Amino acid sequence: MQLAKRMARVQASAIREILKVAERPDVLSFAGGLPAPEAFPVEALARAHADVLSGDAAGALQYGATEGFGPLRAWVAERMTRRGLPAAAEQVLITAGSQQGIDLVGKALIDPGDVVVVEAPSYLAALQSFSTYEARFETVPSDDDGMQVDALERLLRRKRPKLIYLVPTFQNPRGTTLSLERRVRIARLAARFGVTVLEDDPYGELRYRGPALPPVAGIEKEAPVIHLGSFSKTLAPGLRLGYAVADARAIRALTIAKQAADLHTGSLAQRAVARMFETFDYDAHLARLRRLYGERLDAMLASLERAFPEGTTWTRPEGGLFVWVQLPSGIDALELFGDAMLARVAFVPGAPFYPAEPCLETLRLNFSNRPPDAIARRLREARASRAPRRRIAG
Ligand SMILES: Cc1ncc(COP(=O)(O)O)c(C=O)c1O
Repeated sequence: MQLAKRMARVQASAIREILKVAERPDVLSFAGGLPAPEAFPVEALARAHADVLSGDAAGALQYGATEGFGPLRAWVAERMTRRGLPAAAEQVLITAGSQQGIDLVGKALIDPGDVVVVEAPSYLAALQSFSTYEARFETVPSDDDGMQVDALERLLRRKRPKLIYLVPTFQNPRGTTLSLERRVRIARLAARFGVTVLEDDPYGELRYRGPALPPVAGIEKEAPVIHLGSFSKTLAPGLRLGYAVADARAIRALTIAKQAADLHTGSLAQRAVARMFETFDYDAHLARLRRLYGERLDAMLASLERAFPEGTTWTRPEGGLFVWVQLPSGIDALELFGDAMLARVAFVPGAPFYPAEPCLETLRLNFSNRPPDAIARRLREARASRAPRRRIAG
């Protein structure tokens, strides 16, 4: 079999490879971005699926519209309007997770060689997806307030990128959030330079402290922004349900791209979730999730000091699923990974999240998947069992 040349530039996801090892039952994994299974609304979903199958089996099992199931599109439009992105149902495309939204944007917008601006570090599977469309990456550094806008503006003056890819809220992998001031500036820059922003927001509703910020897509009417959301982290990732919200022209292009990809998102899952939302108290469910994950985040933050060598720093997210750790200069996270696995603890070394020039002394920790006491205990044990570290040469 001869593969397309473009596949030579696309790397297998290091995270998925690590997850294979981390899935061993004796390993405590801080590696994946897995939601807590005990928080899946199993009963409500079971009832909704049963209702849909008994009341509308023909609709639920038949081919459906590419744009998605009308009532679910309307629900998303209404919720996004309340969250600060005014939208009509026609501006919503239901996707197979937000990952498909990323891929459809790549398919619809990126020609080989086009420049895509990304944060460094950035969400790995987005880099992977844009690579399959032969994008070239330009990176803009991030700090605790998200993408550095002065650096972005300098870049926009020099280059004409096709796309700016952002995870503004509780970024994967750093957990940090783009400040309001930077949101406004990025929206204005997008309008001024006519560059499309892809706002990928699977974590926006998982805020444990601090005030909510408006989506970048809702700030500046003239700015071309495509907003992506997901039910993966708030309901369950196995549903494979997400959405894109954008102007009619962008939704049309993404819809055509989706027709070629998978015709439409699964009819049964869309109808079941729309049915569930008729009676399910989603806000109360989110409040429970925020309490659960907020406790786990606190447990992790409280344990990090004892778990890592002196001189280590980490982000202090207000939500989402990840903490980003910066090790002292010269300590390679990949080596540390080997040690941690001996103590049956897994994490993701940070290097793969960089499209270029990786920082080897970084790693990502997930805190959503295990109870707080397990997080604290195992981080302590991992520290106790660790051999003295060698430094990276040079
Ligand atoms: C930033 C970001 N975008 C998109 C996704 C994909 O999520 P989904 O399950 O909605 O496809 C993830 C999943 O971890 C993510 O972290």
